[in-house]
Amino acid sequence: MRLTLRSEAETIALGARLGRRLKAGDLILLRGELGAGKTTLARGLALGVGYRGRVSSPTFALAHRYKGKRLTLHHLDLYRVAKGEDSELGLDELLADPRAAVVVEWPDAVGGVWPKDRLELTLAHAHTQRKASFKATGPRGAYLSTQCVRTQ
Ligand SMILES: Nc1ncnc2c1ncn2[C@@H]1O[C@H](COP(=O)(O)OP(=O)(O)OP(=O)(O)O)[C@@H](O)[C@H]1O
Ligand SMILES: [Mg+2]
Repeated sequence: MRLTLRSEAETIALGARLGRRLKAGDLILLRGELGAGKTTLARGLALGVGYRGRVSSPTFALAHRYKGKRLTLHHLDLYRVAKGEDSELGLDELLADPRAAVVVEWPDAVGGVWPKDRLELTLAHAHTQRKASFKATGPRGAYLSTQCVRTQ
């Protein structure tokens, strides 16, 4: 499934649409080259869970926590994480948080740690716009992917 995102606002809107439907335990993996719009999409997710604060790339902090009205969202960026470092990152703890969903930029920096049921979203540059493609594994991933193509 592919979508065209014509502006930053459309990337945020897609994130917000998904964020409104997120539940505790949900996992979204965000792929795409530098500047493809991953953090922008995470900003939309945070809006969707009812968080009104600042959203920025947690490149140095590794993880940011957005405590929304409805749900907490953990936002991870593993760009600077070296392979083999994952056991020290406390990922299991974040993924097991019973009150939170998790979104991850650069998930392939660590191997084999992600729960099976998830939505995988890949963003790519398309001239001045972006393309988004989806892959769902598991029931929650499948549900979330159906929400990606809605217009509201
Ligand atoms: N659909 C879109 N059309 C045009 N520009 C967009 C779109 N979505 C996001 N952008 C812009 O792309 C730029 C980079 O976005 P962002 O920081 O979210 O990328 P990223 O994938 O997180 O990058 P990094 O890999 O460095 O973390 C921002 O200036 C943002 O406004
Ligand atoms: Mg980013």
